[in-house]
Amino acid sequence: MPWLRERVPNITPDPNTGIGKWEKGDVVELLRSGTTPEQGKVKGAMRETIEDGLKYLSDGDLEAIADYLAAQPAIAREVVPKR
Ligand code: HEM
Repeated sequence: MPWLRERVPNITPDPNTGIGKWEKGDVVELLRSGTTPEQGKVKGAMRETIEDGLKYLSDGDLEAIADYLAAQPAIAREVVPKR
């Protein structure tokens, strides 16, 4: 995928390297608006994914995605951002 230049974050429920400390509502908000719990805004491919698709989903569908992610095994692995 040559168009994917960013490093994608760890979105498994690991509390330290993933999103295990996020509330379900934090995940729903990220998927709907691109805003992180720290009030950052996602960029790049993730922003496009939201703008072109995820923001049109219902609350129920966004919650289902958040539930699915929370049900996955936690993987502890730091993702070092590119500079
Ligand atoms: C339903 C599908 C998706 C879910 C649930 C999801 C979830 C997430 C979450 C929770 C984050 C924020 C993680 C954090 O800040 O710690 C994130 C960021 C990101 N996602 Fe996704 N994502 C999805 C689809 C995609 C797709 C299809 C792509 C690529 C084509 C993508 C690329 C990225 C990138 C590059 C970031 C980092 C953005 C930045 O650093 O600003 N995501 N995603």
